[in-house]
Amino acid sequence: MCGIAALATTGETKKQTVRILLEALRSLEYRGYDSAGLAVYDEDEGRIKVWKRKGKVETLVRLLRGVRISAPIGIAHTRWATHGVPNEVNAHPHLDCRGEIAVVHNGIISNYLELKKELIEKGHVFKSETDTEVFAHLFEEEMKSKEPFEAFKSAISKLEGYYAIVAITSKDPERVFFARKESPLIVGKGSDLNMVSSDIASLLRYCSKVAPIEDGEVGWLTWREIYVEKNGERVAVGERFFRPPWTPEQATKGNFPHFMLKEIHEQGTAVKETLMSISTDPRVKEVLELLEGRVVVVAAGTSLHAGMVFSYALGKLLGKDVILLDSSEAYHLEKLLKDTVIAISQSGETYDTLKAVRIAKRNGAKVIGVVNVLGSTLDREADISLYTRAGPEIGVAATKTFLSQVTLLLYLVSRMSGVELKDPHLLVESSIRKSIGYARSLAERLKEKQSMFVLGTGASLPIAYEGALKIKEISYVHAEGYPAGEAKHGPIALAEEGFPVLIAWTPEDEEKLQVAKEEFASRGSEVYWVGPRGDIVAPESDWLHLPFTITPPFQLLAYYMAVLKGYDPDKPRNLAKSVTVH
Ligand code: G6P
Repeated sequence: MCGIAALATTGETKKQTVRILLEALRSLEYRGYDSAGLAVYDEDEGRIKVWKRKGKVETLVRLLRGVRISAPIGIAHTRWATHGVPNEVNAHPHLDCRGEIAVVHNGIISNYLELKKELIEKGHVFKSETDTEVFAHLFEEEMKSKEPFEAFKSAISKLEGYYAIVAITSKDPERVFFARKESPLIVGKGSDLNMVSSDIASLLRYCSKVAPIEDGEVGWLTWREIYVEKNGERVAVGERFFRPPWTPEQATKGNFPHFMLKEIHEQGTAVKETLMSISTDPRVKEVLELLEGRVVVVAAGTSLHAGMVFSYALGKLLGKDVILLDSSEAYHLEKLLKDTVIAISQSGETYDTLKAVRIAKRNGAKVIGVVNVLGSTLDREADISLYTRAGPEIGVAATKTFLSQVTLLLYLVSRMSGVELKDPHLLVESSIRKSIGYARSLAERLKEKQSMFVLGTGASLPIAYEGALKIKEISYVHAEGYPAGEAKHGPIALAEEGFPVLIAWTPEDEEKLQVAKEEFASRGSEVYWVGPRGDIVAPESDWLHLPFTITPPFQLLAYYMAVLKGYDPDKPRNLAKSVTVH
């Protein structure tokens, strides 16, 4: 994970370099927040200056308050620790021995120990435990005999693993060097600056056009030029540039206290826009033909739950069996990854999902990507991309992107089955209105609990899994989604006085849920019902539309549990929104 951002600029904007990089970091913080750091070339002093702090970007913002610097180039980083504990020494940017090179990196350099040993033998002195610092010294070593870009490329060629790396050197204070292998990297063009970053959202405010950098590409940018090459040949990236479909305002909190609450409330619009876009998408025709054959779905986290909704609906309406694979496990079953593979991913950058996609492509499969971020790796590697139109999702816990994925996938089901999706956005909006007060009061009662079950059956089971995931992710209360009937085969051993059980309603088999309720209640459990006439009230609906009515109450419950416990729901501990490592 980790988020990286860099820029090259000119004129008066040089005085804004630090501020612009901090703004980019704020927007990239969903990628990790173990530490944050920034390095710029201070043109008055003629040297690189670095600031880093353990913890969130705000600590770095405080550290830099009052700092006035004119800097033509700068790099910044927000970290999700892989190698080395999250402290200030291990925070990026990392420097070479002389402080003339600064590097930020997202990914893993797998041969860093061998490289480090060689570099130590040559006299380099290391300060951190990170794999990244190796690159600063490697670059330094190469600079002894080469001009900066040649040295950068040569250093890159020695790396194994995967990375997005950005570096600056005081020996070349107009250029920012970058390279990509598997970890995301996007370049952006602005009026008097150019930028490079891990995602599009962080570029929105300053860049009118963006373009993804592809695997194996290396390059540099100055304020007026972006140069890219691959295997020693110049790559013309001009045609790759596009106008981002999002506005900078979409990536702000507006009047909401947290992104998560804003994004929950944006779900009606996200669902509506996704439905409008997919129902006029010409690629759907080909997708529907592909779906007539054997279908495998790969996805992770919340996206996997959207895949469950899809596979349940296809099974129920058409008797069609879809193989659903958790993408982190899919590679074990590589022979299954053939024919038509649907990869669902909000970010389009989840490492495990991309790994499954690459195996599928090697096996000759047709890959359909269901993705929210245009220009992401999945978008580019899939044979056909279908887009959810949720806008940028900043809260780490996925909310609006889940219901957008569900909308898109159920639209495909509706086209295949002839069963119509009816105004799902209105159901979402009514669900939020109806359930918000109840969710908040139940959160008061549940916030101090240690553990709970969320039971569902049929169409409500994927929502029970998703509801439990939301609760775990942001309130740190152990919550386990479980099939209601299966709960008596083991889990019920946990039932005791005060043990909470939430039940996700479905119209398909209320009786089964009632039985589960009695089984737990008779053993002292506190049982809470989520649905029409429930402890959290949600609108009535048929099973097909159930995700739109009972998902928001669980999201709101999780949100209020986190907030009432004093946690930041937008940045849950240990998590990152986009998991680009395996
Ligand atoms: C991370 C996030 C989850 C997300 C999952 C898959 O674990 O914390 O919220 O559902 O990745 O992400 P994707 O971008 O592939 O949908």
